[in-house]
Amino acid sequence: MLRRALNWLADRAGVDSIRSFLAHKTVPIHSATIWYYFGGITLFLFVIQVLTGMLLLLYYRPTPNEAFETVQFIITRVQFGWLVRSVHSWSGNLMVLSAMIHMFSVFFLRSYRQPRELIWLSGMVLLFLTLMFGFSGYLLPWNTLAFFATKVGTDMAGLVPVAGSFLRRFLRGGDEVTGATLTRFFGFHVAVLPGLTTLLLLFHLALVQKWGMSSRQRSGEPVSTMPFFPNFVLRELIAWYGALGVLGTLAALFPWELGTKADPFASAPAGIRPEWYFLAVFYTLKLIPSKVLFMDGEVVGIVVFGLAAAGWMLIPFWDRQPEEAEQHRLLTGVGAFVIAYLVVFSVLGYWR
Ligand code: HEM
Repeated sequence: MLRRALNWLADRAGVDSIRSFLAHKTVPIHSATIWYYFGGITLFLFVIQVLTGMLLLLYYRPTPNEAFETVQFIITRVQFGWLVRSVHSWSGNLMVLSAMIHMFSVFFLRSYRQPRELIWLSGMVLLFLTLMFGFSGYLLPWNTLAFFATKVGTDMAGLVPVAGSFLRRFLRGGDEVTGATLTRFFGFHVAVLPGLTTLLLLFHLALVQKWGMSSRQRSGEPVSTMPFFPNFVLRELIAWYGALGVLGTLAALFPWELGTKADPFASAPAGIRPEWYFLAVFYTLKLIPSKVLFMDGEVVGIVVFGLAAAGWMLIPFWDRQPEEAEQHRLLTGVGAFVIAYLVVFSVLGYWR
C-alpha cells in the first residue's frame, strides 16, 4: 500500500526525470574546482538568514518605541534568543563576504564568458541585493550606531546626480531618518529583498543548470568531470558544514552587540562609519576635495564609482578574447587591483 502510494507520488512529481537529470549532470574537475563551492556557501548562508529571520520576526516590532526593546527582549529573555540574533547578524556579514569571494572567483576563472553572460549579470544584481539586505537590516535594532550610519548611507545615495534627492526621500520615507525609515527598511528587509532575491536566485541557478559549470580546459582538450550527485553534492555539504562551524564559532564567541538606543535628537557620535562592505567607498569619498573643477567633489566620486560598477558589470561583453590573449593578463591585473583597493581602503576607512 505504502509502496504503491510512493510510486504514485514519484510518478506524479516526475521524480524519475529529476533522478535521470541528476544522474547525468557532471561538474568539471580542475585545479580551481575548490572555487565552485562559494556559490553554494552563499546560498546556504541565505537559507540560514531566512530561517533565523523568521525566528526573530516572532518577537521583533519595527517601531521607534519597540524596535530596540524587542531586540533587547530577544537577547536577554528569549531562550537562545541571543544566539539566533548573533547567528543572523554574523551570517549576514559572511554572506556578503562569500558572495564577493564567489564573484571574484568566477571573474578570475572567466566563468562569465559566453554563454554565461546572464549568470554574471544576475549575479551582480544578487550581490547588490545582498548589500541592501545588510544596509536595511543594520537599522532594525534602532541603536545609535545604526541610526547615524543609516544617515550617512542615505546621504551617500542622495549624492546620485538627478535622482539623488528622490532616492534619499524614498529610502528615508521623508527628509530625515525617522520611524518612517524604520518601517520602510523593515518592509525592504523582510518582504521586498527576500522576494527579489529568491526569484533572481532561481533564475541564476536555472542558468547554471542549463549551461553547466564552466571548465578551464582550452577548447578541444579532454575535460575530466565528477558526477554532480552524489560526489559534488557531498563535497558541497562538507563545505556547508565548514561554513556552519565558522558561523557557529563566531556567533557564540563574539555575540553581536546591541549598543545604546538611538536618540534622533542627539548629535552623531565621533567616528561614525557604515558597515565594512561600504567602507572603501565611504573613505574614498572623504578623500575627494569638496570641489573638483566646478563640480561637487562627492558627486564626482559617486559618478566615477557608478561608471566603474557599470564597467565591471559589463565585463562579459568586452572580454571576448580567447584564454591566452594578452587582454587576459590585463583583466587579471584589473581584478587584483580592485581587490587590493577594496582591502586597503576598507582598512583605512576603519582606522581613519
Ligand atoms: C546571493 C548571491 C549568490 C548566490 C547564492 C550564488 C549561487 C551560485 C551557485 C550555487 C552557483 C553554482 C556553483 C558555483 O559555481 O559556485 C553559481 C554559479 C555562478 N555564479 Fe553565482 N551566486 C551569487 C552571486 C553571484 C555573483 C555576485 C556573481 C558575479 C557577479 C555570480 C556569478 C556566477 C557565475 C558566472 C556562475 C557560473 C560559474 C561557472 O559556471 O563556473 N554569482 N552561483
